[in-house]
Amino acid sequence: MTVTDIAAALPKAELHVHLEGTLEPEDLMRLAARNGVALPWYTADEVRAAYSYSGLAEFLQLYYLGCTVLHTRADFHELTAAYLRRAAAQGVRRAEMFVSPQPFLGRVPVDDVLGGVLDAVADARTDLGVDGAVLVIAQRHRTQAEALELLDVMAPWRESLLGVGLGGAEVGNPPSKFARFFADARGRGYRLACHAGEEGPADYVREALDAGVERIDHGYTAAADPALVARLRDEGVPLTMCPLSNLRLRVVDTLDGYPVMALHEAGVVATVNSDDPPYFGGYVADNYAALGLSTRQLAALARNSFTASFAPADDVAAGIAAVDAFEASQPNDAEAP
Ligand code: HPA
Ligand code: ZN
Repeated sequence: MTVTDIAAALPKAELHVHLEGTLEPEDLMRLAARNGVALPWYTADEVRAAYSYSGLAEFLQLYYLGCTVLHTRADFHELTAAYLRRAAAQGVRRAEMFVSPQPFLGRVPVDDVLGGVLDAVADARTDLGVDGAVLVIAQRHRTQAEALELLDVMAPWRESLLGVGLGGAEVGNPPSKFARFFADARGRGYRLACHAGEEGPADYVREALDAGVERIDHGYTAAADPALVARLRDEGVPLTMCPLSNLRLRVVDTLDGYPVMALHEAGVVATVNSDDPPYFGGYVADNYAALGLSTRQLAALARNSFTASFAPADDVAAGIAAVDAFEASQPNDAEAP
């Protein structure tokens, strides 16, 4: 088996993926035509060629442009179903997915956004055997008041939604700006995730921990801060790292020495995820395969993905047992090249 085959066959959870960011260029063009949206491209290849960024801000411009082609409940259903099919083919057993309703408010009824996504999650549970769950993201360039309003807007779906997160333009919009949002969300029973330490400093990760956040999305800049690494280890707060995203957004120049394995060895529950797969050139298994790690190391990261999930304890144990069984089926010397 090649490392690509191993990475795809390895049972895993994906914990950091933005559904709107899973729109493949062909689907982007198809939905634009169907919904009468004018885009600055004529072909899917032109879209792909445009996916080169100087950093998070430039990516977000294209990502928000991509969001404009999503208009109907059927669009959100198709988007989610397509992602879950691809994820299943890459060994994903559990997917905790982000959706961000704020850019659609006033344009697409929230009932269609969340209803379309949740219907596809229910279909995938029976059709693909993927255990899907949804976290709603508030955009950090907006106000905390808007984030609090979002909690009211999504209240009818409380029992169907797993949690909340914070995404968008990080620098200048620290987690402390959303302390009440996180406290209110926790009071309503949501699990708490927060993007921090992607382009922002390690102190943003500290602020997220201080706000009671249970899982940090990215957390890359924490790796160079030993006291913070110790805190993440001691508090058992996982990181959902996204290597190809970090590479394409120029957070790192190369994946040589990417810190996910070092963080794991330091006792942090570090995981590998895709973020926005077509925008960054790979789904979750492609991210595993890009790291130049051995089968044993990849299996350790896959076990972490179940440990870091918000799934019930029995499901976490079953996921870890599936990784153990896969690893045991592989030759001992199956090392990556
Ligand atoms: N960072 C912040 N916000 C996002 C991202 C990301 O990588 N992808 C989609 N929204
Ligand atoms: Zn993200």
